[in-house]
Amino acid sequence: MNVADSQAMAQALAPDYVLTSRAEDADLFLINTCAIRRKSEEKVKSLLGSLRGLKKTRPRLLIGVGGCVAQQERERLLAAAPHLDLVFGPRSLRRLPELVARAQRGERPVDVELIPGLPEAPCIHQPGRAQALVTIMQGCDNFCAFCVVPYVRGREESREPGAILREVAAFLAGGGLEVTLLGQNVNSYGRGLAEPITFPQLLRRVAALPGLTRLRFATSHPRDLSPELIALFGEMPALCQHLHLPVQSGANRILAAMNRGYTREQYLDRVAALRSACPDIALTTDLIVGFPGETEADFQETLSLMGEAAFDAAFSFKYSPRPQTRAASLPDQVPEAVKAARLARLQALQAELTLRSNARLVGQVSEVLVEGASRRSPRELSGRLRTNQVVNFPGPPELVGRLATVALTEAHPHSLKGRWLEAHSTWPLVA
Ligand code: 5AD
Ligand code: SF4
Repeated sequence: MNVADSQAMAQALAPDYVLTSRAEDADLFLINTCAIRRKSEEKVKSLLGSLRGLKKTRPRLLIGVGGCVAQQERERLLAAAPHLDLVFGPRSLRRLPELVARAQRGERPVDVELIPGLPEAPCIHQPGRAQALVTIMQGCDNFCAFCVVPYVRGREESREPGAILREVAAFLAGGGLEVTLLGQNVNSYGRGLAEPITFPQLLRRVAALPGLTRLRFATSHPRDLSPELIALFGEMPALCQHLHLPVQSGANRILAAMNRGYTREQYLDRVAALRSACPDIALTTDLIVGFPGETEADFQETLSLMGEAAFDAAFSFKYSPRPQTRAASLPDQVPEAVKAARLARLQALQAELTLRSNARLVGQVSEVLVEGASRRSPRELSGRLRTNQVVNFPGPPELVGRLATVALTEAHPHSLKGRWLEAHSTWPLVA
């Protein structure tokens, strides 16, 4: 979601500003921020501090902080950093050109209005890009007890289906292959629209657009995952065989205290339904350790749920108290050392599960959407399977942005290695 927001910022400021990868060249430095845990908030503050020197050597450089930390900290950021020129929240992106103009005049604008309404103008994706992130809703009304998102991103609001379809159609007409629909809770898409529509209905309309090869979405709330949506995984050819379904905890007591709205048993029932609708689906999740009051027995329940659900991958975090949230003022905060020890045990278990899941794929021949050069070796390419695992393989740079057929040869903890099967690939594709 933050990547999509950063793209929207760049777009709002074009053509007056273009992107540069060299900080020394920049006339405007925008830091997009995340407030979900304290650590990400601290990173912003230290990055902002490190820009002080740059501003000294280039007094005309403008520096701005946007996103959720900006929304939360507001004027406090200006007070802490005299070299900061503008502050804007996640719902102020459209007003960015005007805010930058005010900063150029020496004002130090702060725009953190949570004004309803999603940008109507269709987002223009760069031609030749194979992948697009498409925001379909903003905000969140769930108020999970640990989460700051409803406070910094405001009330849940769905974008008109017509605007979404126009944006996706324009992207596909430019040669796009993969679309990821984004929202904090996509399963409740369509509530409150003048002409209500459900998320499965939206998916059907998007999937009917010509040229769509891969359709993904994030994030799903387990409580709102309907049987109709589950069934789509077995029926809709464009829909990728991957679902990110954050469970957070395996203990019913903790799930209730988190205000998640489902039990361990209901979650596992949905996992079983997904696997029966689509046997090769990959499931990934988010997990929090050390929520206030979490006992060793509760934590054991999380470990056992991970085994039962057999997650293919997981993002896991130590609980971090956030301002305004209910959980921050709960008694029985878990000591830092206990959180760290639980996180290490959980991650060791997930590493085993992920390696086992990757190992099951070795020997298969699969479709990879090539995303770029691999991080480890510039001579290798890196891409993703429909089930979302990363695959690295030697191949020509011309394959970037295209589909390649790859034999999966080795499983690693976070990726697979493969061999490009040139003759089987749909390469070269039509441009
Ligand atoms: N502490 C730790 N993790 C959190 N998340 C959200 N809020 C917190 C918090 N206060 C995690 C959840 C969520 C993911 C995006 O971040 O697991 O699914
Ligand atoms: Fe946060 Fe819960 Fe909303 Fe997700 S559903 S953004 S965890 S409040």
